[in-house]
Amino acid sequence: MSNRLEKLEQLRKEAMLGGGEKRIADQHKKGKLTARERLDLLLDEGSFEELDMFARHRSNKFGLDKNRPLGDGVVTGTGTINGKIVCVFSQDFTVFGGSLSEVHAEKICKIMDLAMKIGAPVIGLNDSGGARIQEGVVSLGGYADIFLRNTMASGVIPQISVILGPCAGGAVYSPAITDFVFMVKNSSYMFVTGPNVVKTVTHEEVTFEELGGADTHSSKSGVSHFSAENEVECLQMVRRLVEFLPSSNKSPLPKIPTADKSDRLCTRLDSIIPANPNQPYDIKDVIMEVVDERDFFEVHADYATNIVVGFSTLNGMPVGIVANQPASMAGVLDINSSIKGARFVRFCDAFNIPLVVFEDVPGFLPGTDQEWRGIIRSGAKLLYAFCEATVPKVTVITRKAYGGAYDVMNSKHIRGDYNIAWVTAEIAVMGAKGAVEILFHKEIAQSDDKAARAAALEADYNEQFANPYEAAERGYVDDVIIPSETRKRLIRALTLLQTKQDTNPWKKHGNIPL
Ligand code: HXC
Repeated sequence: MSNRLEKLEQLRKEAMLGGGEKRIADQHKKGKLTARERLDLLLDEGSFEELDMFARHRSNKFGLDKNRPLGDGVVTGTGTINGKIVCVFSQDFTVFGGSLSEVHAEKICKIMDLAMKIGAPVIGLNDSGGARIQEGVVSLGGYADIFLRNTMASGVIPQISVILGPCAGGAVYSPAITDFVFMVKNSSYMFVTGPNVVKTVTHEEVTFEELGGADTHSSKSGVSHFSAENEVECLQMVRRLVEFLPSSNKSPLPKIPTADKSDRLCTRLDSIIPANPNQPYDIKDVIMEVVDERDFFEVHADYATNIVVGFSTLNGMPVGIVANQPASMAGVLDINSSIKGARFVRFCDAFNIPLVVFEDVPGFLPGTDQEWRGIIRSGAKLLYAFCEATVPKVTVITRKAYGGAYDVMNSKHIRGDYNIAWVTAEIAVMGAKGAVEILFHKEIAQSDDKAARAAALEADYNEQFANPYEAAERGYVDDVIIPSETRKRLIRALTLLQTKQDTNPWKKHGNIPL
């Protein structure tokens, strides 16, 4: 017996060392943590239960049969985050550069299958040189096995990808299918082809960081939802995200305790809208005033900043917030903001997280650039996403709700459950200046004092249309409120809507304009 115990002990020790002490030191020298150190930071202390620690690759090409490290370059298992069970895999760069072999892929697939069976989020910590070159097509098959599982799990369990090193070639498509991607500045990168190939094909000179670093993907491409200064911060951010999420599409939403009173008045909001309708204000100030303890976890903070999306709670109930941002491009909807909003709405709907919309939108962005790149198709994504969502959906119109954007931003007509307007709301086809120009340009041209006539007509238009009462008269908004009451009213509505039931007609799946 003691021999057997010693053998187990010795194998465990060996597995813990991954690719050995030298490679661990190299990893640290690059400012990176090891696969196991990362799991220690991600999971509740002592909660990690490892699976397949003794797995080894079965390859014998290029002398690989003489080098068969335990675990085969990925640490997999289960653990908890603030008590919530999660399934994890963490690629070990110290073993063949974290490259993906047949066995490595099998381990990832096994943990994903378990996550699907028990209904738990999957979190993948990626740090890999890609397909294990010595295994050839077998490792490509392994990737495809993972892609299929990512797709099957989409909308069933939350999937989170954390990029903590290289992630290149086809390997990027697993994170891309998952719900949220985290990156770390200056140590993680994602691209389909690296700088050398780029130089050969397009003659562009570009660094790894510029081509596919955290800043690039969190601000330019939108591939990454979160960008952290370092790995410790990154893993803390993952823990925070998980707190808001249910374990699966069939699990109840978490309840997050709060000391914030449900009937707290947000008096600052009564003076937040500037007197001049063209003057911006920060919609995040509105969000922070309303939510529990000013705690708002923003998603995609640096990408398409004209729309703000993220998680928060109202009286402890998790909500997904979608808000136009007047402080960025006047809050106009363009291609990127529509796509960003649509994907977030669909995530929340898939996981039963109620949607809270703050609306101040002058319309869609005009111009050849937007039209030629398909603002019609992309704007339709956001419209489609709101239309198909069956979760509780509430809207607060703070100021402008103009044109098609009024319909899109979770209007009553597309199944908004509780739509309220602040007294400052302007709900109309367009703003006064544009409307007067279209309707009265002949009359203005003929008038002696053109400016005065235009101003008078604009004032008249504003009087008639730049208010919430036209809409309220028809029930397009359920109530007109004083801004300070927003929190109280939203919490009451969301409490009421907890038992909401709504469905869409049976279909294999819809055909969202991609
Ligand atoms: C096998 C690999 C490997 C790989 C790295 N290693 N990548 N082994 N297969 N794909 C090994 C190296 O031989 C080395 O072993 C150790 O990992 C560390 O690698 P280094 O090169 O020393 O590290 P570094 O300088 O940090 O560079 C990391 C790297 C580079 C940028 C990732 O290793 C690299 O370019 N690797 C190849 C990347 C690649 O082209 N992969 C295939 C992509 S195509 P020793 O023993 O020396 O420590 C792909 C297709 C997926 O992935 C398709 C899905 C559909």
